Formats: sequence, C-alpha cells, structure tokens
Amino acid sequence: MPEVAVTSTPLSFQWLDAFEMGNAEINDLHRTLFEDCRELVQLVEDNAAWPLIVAKAWFLVEDCVRHFRVEAIVLNRTRFPRYAEHVAQHRKIEEELGALLARMASVDGSQAEHRELPRCFGPLLVDVMLRLDLDYRSHLLHKDGL
Ligand SMILES: [Fe+2]
Ligand SMILES: [Fe+2]
Repeated sequence: MPEVAVTSTPLSFQWLDAFEMGNAEINDLHRTLFEDCRELVQLVEDNAAWPLIVAKAWFLVEDCVRHFRVEAIVLNRTRFPRYAEHVAQHRKIEEELGALLARMASVDGSQAEHRELPRCFGPLLVDVMLRLDLDYRSHLLHKDGL
C-alpha cells in the first residue's frame, strides 16, 4: 500500500502518482472528486450557509456516482476479472454516501457535530481510490489502449 498524504482534513490532500489508475478518464474523475472534497471542506471552514454545504455535498455524491458508472464501463470493457466484486463495492459506498448526505439534509447545521459530517467524505473517498481502486490499477496499466 503506497503512502497517503492525508492528515486531519481533506484540505491537506495532495495528489500523488499512486492515484494514477492507468486510465485518463478515471484519473480526471478522481481529480474532480478530490477538488469537490476540497471545496466542500473549504465551505465548512468559511462557515458557509448550511444549505450551500449540503448542495455541495450533493454535487460531490453525484460526481462520485457518475465516476462509478464510468469506471464500471472501463472495467467491463477491459474484462477486469473482479468486475462484479468491484461494482458491488461501488454500490455499498453509494449507499454510505447517500446515508451521509441524508443525515446532512436532516439537520440544520447549527451544531458543531453537524458541521463535522462533511469531513467524513474525504476519508471515504480516499478509501474508494486507494483501498478499492488499487485492485484494478495494474490490470489497467497493462491494458493500455483498450
Ligand atoms: Fe474510482
Ligand atoms: Fe472503483
């Protein structure tokens, strides 16, 4: 497992070569998710209005779900042997993201604990990219051009 440059908040995310997954489109989508996450935490840091923070979290979840769809197409096209398992993991994370979003939408942001919720997205997304996606990295790196 490569070193991950993540400390206490997603604001400290650094894009690393370890995140390159062997497919330009997937790399772009992963970068977008990082940026979404950084912007979301910045809104919290700036004490932005809660509905704005919830809306940004919603966009992040939409971007993540769209990235799952693209990734599934690429893995299917390149005949990744553990395609079914990977797609099942995506579904599980989609549920977790949806639950986190629903929790955020059910509160008004007036409590400190509410404002901690958006910070959960960063560790979740790093988990998606490093623990789960690394499983297909070498597969894609050896299928260049497919
Ligand atoms: Fe991914
Ligand atoms: Fe994935």
